[in-house]
Amino acid sequence: MTQVPSVLFVCLGNICRSPLAEAALRHEAAAAGLDVLVDSAGTGSWHVGKGPDPRSCAEAARHGIDIRSYRARQVEAADFRRFDRILALDAANLADLKRIAPADGTASLSLLLDLVPGLEGSDVADPYYGGPEGFALTWTQVREAARRLVAQLADG
Ligand code: 4NP
Repeated sequence: MTQVPSVLFVCLGNICRSPLAEAALRHEAAAAGLDVLVDSAGTGSWHVGKGPDPRSCAEAARHGIDIRSYRARQVEAADFRRFDRILALDAANLADLKRIAPADGTASLSLLLDLVPGLEGSDVADPYYGGPEGFALTWTQVREAARRLVAQLADG
């Protein structure tokens, strides 16, 4: 039996961007009939235990997805062994992940938008301090990345 692929999305707070990335991948994988283990976490601890930002909940709801039950958590050493892939929402998150990765970590670490042709090397900008349009852009970007990822995973 082949193992189910596993993906962890990581941003700073785990309340704005990575919950939307998690929701997008769950949604796209379900639509494709693909079995995948998905989670999200933050490099920071400020929001641990809290639900997603209401603006992320509203953006997800616009696409028919309820993320209100998600809870923020901080990335931990075991994540680097438990997940096949850890995808950082921006370059600062990726640098932090590389800094804290344990020596026996097996997960591949990369930037989420490296999955999207034309957006390689780009950050999913932090929408926390802006208006709702930032959350709409986040959704567009994470959904496109999720679609690419599902296509890759479905290809084996
Ligand atoms: P996220 O957004 O990393 O996309 O969850 C942020 C949420 C909170 C903070 C920064 C970014 N903060 O500084 O509290």
